[in-house]
Amino acid sequence: MNRKYRKTVIAGNWKMNKTPSETKEFMAQFKTIMPKGRWCDVALCVPAVCIPAAVRAMRETRVGIGAENVNANPSGAYTGEVAANMLVDAGCKYVIIGHSERRAMGETDADVNAKVLAALEAGLIPIMCCGESLEQRESGITEEWVAMQIKLGLAGVSEEKIRKVVIAYEPIWAIGTGRTATPEQAQEVCENIRAVIRKLYSSKNARAISILYGGSMNEKNAYELLAQPDIDGGLIGGASLVPEKFVQIIEAANQPTV
Ligand code: 13P
Repeated sequence: MNRKYRKTVIAGNWKMNKTPSETKEFMAQFKTIMPKGRWCDVALCVPAVCIPAAVRAMRETRVGIGAENVNANPSGAYTGEVAANMLVDAGCKYVIIGHSERRAMGETDADVNAKVLAALEAGLIPIMCCGESLEQRESGITEEWVAMQIKLGLAGVSEEKIRKVVIAYEPIWAIGTGRTATPEQAQEVCENIRAVIRKLYSSKNARAISILYGGSMNEKNAYELLAQPDIDGGLIGGASLVPEKFVQIIEAANQPTV
């Protein structure tokens, strides 16, 4: 982390877990133990049907609620889909875009790009995900692969808007497996992502953008991961479903930075 130049963001991704009633219960518990400090931004990205309950519960807090996906079109005949302006109207601040689980369902880099542009246009903060498979890592193409995802995903994002984007590096082999990337592995890729942003935009923008790590991040390994200079937070799956664990990760963000 480097709090001097950029925001630290601790974001939960609930994936397809919790009902609206369970959301209400989680938020009630979470609110009682939530750290009071203001050292990082906290986001909880929840299933679409849980958004109203989450927004209602967190209204008076500094926790921002987010969605886990968005459709790139403003409106129309897209049965089952949700547009960016609908998320804004429902009280969302964030939206996860291009998670590997959605890419596995067929989402392409072009789709990710269209969604990032739509989210920014509507005023949402996109949390754009990237990351390599185990096969790609073992083939030694992680750097190129992730650079390509970043370049394609950010195509057409202007100089003024780039700072609104949050990037999440999530190696696919570390998601839900309990096999976390080492702090050095995660740092190396996050540093490369920042170098790509520097080339695409400027040093100033590269320095200002928040890059999160995701993949089996938990209350035990968060401190070490967050101590890396280019890891500005976390996108947390499993551990964000338990208030105590999520709070401990937020607390790990309260450490001295470079
Ligand atoms: P886990 O923390 O459960 O590994 O999930 C990570 C993730 O995919 C967050 O988006």
